[in-house]
Amino acid sequence: TTTAFAFILGAYLIGSLSFAVIVTKLMGMADPRTYGSKNPGATNVLRSGKKLAAALTLLGDGVKGWVAVLLVQQFGPAYGLGEQAVAMAGLAVLAGHMWPVFFGFKGGKGVATAVGVLAAFNGWLALAALATWLFMAFVVKISSLSAIVACVLVPVYAFFIVGPQSVYWGTSIIIAILVVHRHKSNLINLLTGQEDKIGQAEPGDK
Ligand code: G3P
Repeated sequence: TTTAFAFILGAYLIGSLSFAVIVTKLMGMADPRTYGSKNPGATNVLRSGKKLAAALTLLGDGVKGWVAVLLVQQFGPAYGLGEQAVAMAGLAVLAGHMWPVFFGFKGGKGVATAVGVLAAFNGWLALAALATWLFMAFVVKISSLSAIVACVLVPVYAFFIVGPQSVYWGTSIIIAILVVHRHKSNLINLLTGQEDKIGQAEPGDK
């Protein structure tokens, strides 16, 4: 329907707001697409040394995922839209973050936005993903590896939390595949021992 299309397009446009680019521009900092991993994301903004900018990027990219899905959950039912449309909005906002129309389709890897989307799907699911990322980050101190491990486990968590009958289970698998796929360069760095620890940049990124 037209309304479903409008909601999904809206989610894509919200996702296209790359907070790494917006926050650093507002704070008069260098564009994160020019240094470190060149990725417009909180992890790379942290390589600038500005923790506040990294935190705001994380928050912005996470909240946009949550809001884009929440809008459909709140206002969709009045137009006959159900969980299918909610799930589609989740994928659309993530796609917007990864391939933003406003920034030459060069977006981020989707970790923060995925957590926001999962939070709207099911709070426990997001909490499990977040706890996994935090635990891994505490142990290995590598952002990408923590995200990849969390991604692999998200469908497992979703299986038990929302169940295989839920549209959110299949959606969580697609989300995990998309986010891991965006970490291709990190996987290469990890395999060659060149991936850097959180907050520091090493040769692998140059
Ligand atoms: O949030 C993306 C993170 O998992 C990796 O970022 O900049 O180290 O490639 P980066």
